[in-house]
Amino acid sequence: MKIISTPKELKEYLQNSQQSIGFVPTMGALHEGHISLIKKARKENEIVVVSIFLNPTQFLKGEDLEKYPKKDEADKQICKLSGVDVLFFPHAKDMYTEDEVGLLAPKIRGFVLEGASRPSHFNGVLTVVMKLFNIVNPTNAYFGKKDAQQLNLISLMVKQMFMSVNIVPVDTARESDGLAMSSRNIYLSQQERKEALKIPASLYQAGKMISQKILDTNTIITKMREILTPLEISYVEILNRDFELVRHVEIGNTVILVEAKVGETRLLDNIWL
Ligand code: PAJ
Repeated sequence: MKIISTPKELKEYLQNSQQSIGFVPTMGALHEGHISLIKKARKENEIVVVSIFLNPTQFLKGEDLEKYPKKDEADKQICKLSGVDVLFFPHAKDMYTEDEVGLLAPKIRGFVLEGASRPSHFNGVLTVVMKLFNIVNPTNAYFGKKDAQQLNLISLMVKQMFMSVNIVPVDTARESDGLAMSSRNIYLSQQERKEALKIPASLYQAGKMISQKILDTNTIITKMREILTPLEISYVEILNRDFELVRHVEIGNTVILVEAKVGETRLLDNIWL
């Protein structure tokens, strides 16, 4: 596995390749969720590139940028064992200058749900993903459905900017008790870890109601909020696959999303039905 730390070197390394490139962007502290993206990329491409970059522009002031878990050596080992060809490990100074041109998330879809509590978060995500795509020029890029709004906005950017990368959504990897894997789970105390199970439980209940033909979204959301109590809920929403609010669930075209705070940790989860 080759480890490269500057955009220039990586561009040069990949430039003349005629082979398909599968790309998995991450912020490190890799877990089984990230590994499932890498494995899929490994199966579907000749070259696999993973980036580890704790992107400062997607963190708001007062968020966990400083204390975000760092596991550089373990991450390198995981990448090596998962068959990664190139690991891109840039420094912020090589990715950003003092006076950047801006890339903006769309006004409506970028500032609802997670974007409502984290305005400008998705501007930072889209900017770094655009930069990374321009450096790697991937054939396929892999993103988790767990970050459903991020996946939706990146797909929109690719379409609206006429970019040629193919975006591949990957199912959410979960712990055996149902909690969605996340680099932030490490912040949870034992008690909070138990409380956090209310999140997948609320989604499971929604799935159950829908299978019983209860399709009214308000009824489902009310029940989900009951299950989530006493967690501090940022949002519980039922959307279609274009991320528009709907009143009735249409099976095959629905995403149910939850964001809730467990202690000081904000956790996201969703199901696609
Ligand atoms: P990060 O949180 O490290 O996640 C990297 C990728 O792993 C994302 O596509 C995310 O959706 C996916 N992922 C995380 N947990 C997962 C799980 N339990 N199952 C499946 N996939 C999972 O998302 C980011 O980094 C950043 O915003 C990034 C896109 C790298 C831009 O900085």
